Amino acid sequence: MVVRFEKQPLRAAVLFSGGGSTLANFIDCIATGRLRGIRIVTTVSSRSAVRGVEIAAQAGLPVSVVRTRDYPDVVDFSRQIASVIESAACDLVLMAGFMCFWDFPRPFAGRVLNIHPSLLPRFGGKGMYGPHVHAAVLAAGERVSGCTVHIVDHEYDHGPIIAQQEVPVGPEDTAETLGARVGAAERELYPRVVQSIVDSRGAVLDPILERNRPSR
Ligand code: GRF
Repeated sequence: MVVRFEKQPLRAAVLFSGGGSTLANFIDCIATGRLRGIRIVTTVSSRSAVRGVEIAAQAGLPVSVVRTRDYPDVVDFSRQIASVIESAACDLVLMAGFMCFWDFPRPFAGRVLNIHPSLLPRFGGKGMYGPHVHAAVLAAGERVSGCTVHIVDHEYDHGPIIAQQEVPVGPEDTAETLGARVGAAERELYPRVVQSIVDSRGAVLDPILERNRPSR
């Protein structure tokens, strides 16, 4: 599979469920020119009353609230998300603290990215989000943690890894202090990865997608 982005600026959708800190960082990076050649054209929140919705609205971005409970199953829920993204003619989908599983249609393959606050494949999967991840890292006595940007496939926190950034874990760390350190690394790593995709028109993903090609 080869993913190419022919036109710039790229059109991105951002998906979130809560605080929207990752969305805020993208907005800020684009506004200050630290992230170029891409525009956020739409956002999707899986919850209505969250800070992320306010952040999107304040930035003048369209927000569609798509809640799992409003759909009979994951198929219809996923279809609704896909339809929002397709109507906005998005090239790239950036998951940014989106806590729901969505089964994206085939044309999206290789175009959906996520960031996870651990060094995947460690400390990923269902239930591993926010402070739970950092508490598990501390309980395991890890000396290093970090964050991972990966291509999303059809399993939680699973798809091909694009890049990781490590941070040290100290003896005094709590889930909160470690979370803050990982958060700072996330704010640096995710835009950097997106910029490399924009600049290469997707070519940086070629070896990653090739290595992870499903065997027949
Ligand atoms: C980030 O830690 C990211 O790794 C994860 O969600 C967090 C952002 O959450 N996927 P929020 O947007 O601040 O709620």
